[in-house]
Amino acid sequence: MLTRDEVVQLLNPVIDPFLHKTLEETSGIKEVTIKEDKQHVSVKVAIGKTNTAEQMQLQQELVGILKRNGAVTVGLRFEQLPNEIIQKFQPAVENAKEKQLMGGNKQPNFLAIASGKGGVGKSTVTVNLAIALRRLGKKVGIIDADIYGFSVPDMMGIEERPIVRGEKIIPVERFGVKVISMGFFVEDNSPIIWRGPMLGKMLNSFFKEVEWGDLDYLLLDLPPGTGDIAMDVHELLPSCKEIIVTTPHPTAAFVAARAGQMALKTEHEILGVVENMAYFESKLTGEREFVFGQGGGKKLAEVLNTKVLGQLPIQQPYEDEDVFAPSVYQEDHPNGKAYHHIAAKVIAKMEEA
Ligand SMILES: Nc1ncnc2c1ncn2[C@@H]1O[C@H](COP(=O)(O)OP(=O)(O)O)[C@@H](O)[C@H]1O
Ligand SMILES: [Mg+2]
Repeated sequence: MLTRDEVVQLLNPVIDPFLHKTLEETSGIKEVTIKEDKQHVSVKVAIGKTNTAEQMQLQQELVGILKRNGAVTVGLRFEQLPNEIIQKFQPAVENAKEKQLMGGNKQPNFLAIASGKGGVGKSTVTVNLAIALRRLGKKVGIIDADIYGFSVPDMMGIEERPIVRGEKIIPVERFGVKVISMGFFVEDNSPIIWRGPMLGKMLNSFFKEVEWGDLDYLLLDLPPGTGDIAMDVHELLPSCKEIIVTTPHPTAAFVAARAGQMALKTEHEILGVVENMAYFESKLTGEREFVFGQGGGKKLAEVLNTKVLGQLPIQQPYEDEDVFAPSVYQEDHPNGKAYHHIAAKVIAKMEEA
């Protein structure tokens, strides 16, 4: 008959299906009781997540091992590991999950661009930050996940549609940035009614079915506001960082703070705040007018315990007859330069660790 030590030896190498660590590493074997007369072994096992299909599989695996080694009957009880152990091993789980999501060899840095409300320039920031990162030599993709108002293709002047090769969708490339948008898959701009879980599904297929190649950065233009969406993104991309866009108006900053607080709640790290439409500068006198008020970005950054990455004045890109991209600032445009600085800061923050 098996001894207690032998049971522990036998079960120690089994892998916790959630933490991807052995039960030995997680100290998952909590109790072993042996009833000699009945050749019955009962074990209490602690794992990362209980009551799941994976637990059922694990259960069969454990019973199999013990029976093959002489137990006639086996009793198993499961409980959840203490939080500090789960947290200790969590990163491995997250990476594994994200790795699965994209395929490919390399995991990009995920950057979500969020705002409290619409119309503050979230998509403009996404597009121009992506292009600025590209100008700094990075391989960049954009997922236009603003299901209520996808606008990235229009802003970048994209007229073609992605092609499908085999089972994969090839993203459209513009200014060296790979783009995929819900707008590509909707006929005639007709509105779609979205329900919570659909966004998660869409994001999932944008990760899995799109041929991204190896990217350094993947930017997500999220729908404005808080709630399910942030949760979905967190669920899918635990390592995703956030940039919050606001105008200098105190109300806008206040609303944005809620979006930011959501990010904090879901443990998304906030990389910083971008204050858009910060002021208007007269071409004639150089005088700055703070048409939307002042201080919103700074205040928001304080509330969220982060920094202002940059302030962008109200300005249109230069008119260019040859290149149609209504919202893309040229490299030598003042706003183009401002985005260059923001991108450099983003790279420093993301790649310093
Ligand atoms: N700094 C800016 N200067 C001038 N117009 C801007 C600026 N930022 C954004 N816009 C314009 O404001 C509108 C809203 O911006 P958009 O990026 O679509 O916001 P959101 O994605 O937050 O709804 C767009 O027409 C955009 O071109
Ligand atoms: Mg938008």
